[in-house]
Amino acid sequence: EVIEANGQVLLPGFVDLHTHLREPGREDTETIDTGSAAAALGGYTAVFAMANTDPVADNAVIVEHVWRRGQEVGLVDVHPVGAVTVGLKGEKLAELGTMANSQARVKVFSDDGLCVADPLLMRRALEYSTALDVVIAQHAEEPRLTVGAQAHEGERAARLGYTGWPAAAEESIVARDCLLARHAKARLHVCHVSTSGTADVLRWAKDRGTKVSAEVTPHHLLLTDERLGTYDPVNKVNPPLRTQSDTARLRAALADGTIDCVATDHAPHAVQDKDTEWSAARPGMLGLQTALSIVTETMVRTGLLDWRGVARVLSERPAEIGNLADQGRPIAVGEPANLTLVDPDAEWTVRGAELASIAANTPYEGMRLPGVVTATLLRGRITARDGKIG
Ligand code: NCD
Ligand code: ZN
Ligand code: ZN
Ligand code: ZN
Repeated sequence: EVIEANGQVLLPGFVDLHTHLREPGREDTETIDTGSAAAALGGYTAVFAMANTDPVADNAVIVEHVWRRGQEVGLVDVHPVGAVTVGLKGEKLAELGTMANSQARVKVFSDDGLCVADPLLMRRALEYSTALDVVIAQHAEEPRLTVGAQAHEGERAARLGYTGWPAAAEESIVARDCLLARHAKARLHVCHVSTSGTADVLRWAKDRGTKVSAEVTPHHLLLTDERLGTYDPVNKVNPPLRTQSDTARLRAALADGTIDCVATDHAPHAVQDKDTEWSAARPGMLGLQTALSIVTETMVRTGLLDWRGVARVLSERPAEIGNLADQGRPIAVGEPANLTLVDPDAEWTVRGAELASIAANTPYEGMRLPGVVTATLLRGRITARDGKIG
């Protein structure tokens, strides 16, 4: 089969270090089947499925289930992220080695949606990870500084009546964990960086030789707390939408490598969990099918990244951080390819109901966005073509 690619951009298949697929436990919002379809349509050939499922992915049985289910669906490589701790409360380290050596070959362990607030627990996790050569992904929130917090702490939140979530809640724990990672000679990955101050901390840690990497979400590159005025929970997310000076700094930090890559934090939620009052609504936004467009809008159209740079932040760096040898790199002649074809000039209008996810909680509803994924190939097989699967 010949794919006509005149005027389009051919990129290595995208790799998402941060996807919530909700299986097992919340199959009413997303399954490995529907989430894989959203990923393929979004240009992804590999995703890392976060551990905050129900039950939590804190043992070999669950991570092997997620891995196998991903292989059966066959649209994208689904790499399960293991939980750092047993269960949601996180008082005891999970058996990272058992998961790393399982059929799922877990490479990333996270507390996302969980809590490794205890510094001794985090220190032991980092020391353990060094021995296993896996990466610990830190959710980047000091939960004892965000009790009851619902929005970025600042003038706007105060005026509108939201309780605050200070930038310091993120920056303090990222600084702490950079120091602990240095102590443990471990690889630390910082999830969803949202503040300018965190970029400062990362720059400082990297300049001192710390093995730290970081991701930014598409929504933190584009959206700001200006959206809080509507009180619409579609805009509620962890960490919260920050200020315009934060988005500007995050874009610059992504362009200069202080932040390594873009990760979606794709977080599907049911209508009843979003269409409710702000304080009761769950945090999170869909992201897999809109990421390329938001990166096109915020990074390419602004001149901050060329398409070579897009390949770096959506594919090469996340593949390196996640230890995926078969993704994010040039292919040899005759080798089955992981590729994404993008029409950089085409535009589309986002409709949550038309996305492949079961949930429809996109913050981009009705927006016209540039950059369209026209084909995705997983090991030489077409997984998505012109907005359709297969
Ligand atoms: C995440 C989710 O829904 O699982 N939500 C989010 O806003 N990012 C969990 C989390 O990271 O808090
Ligand atoms: Zn998180
Ligand atoms: Zn946490
Ligand atoms: Zn998350």
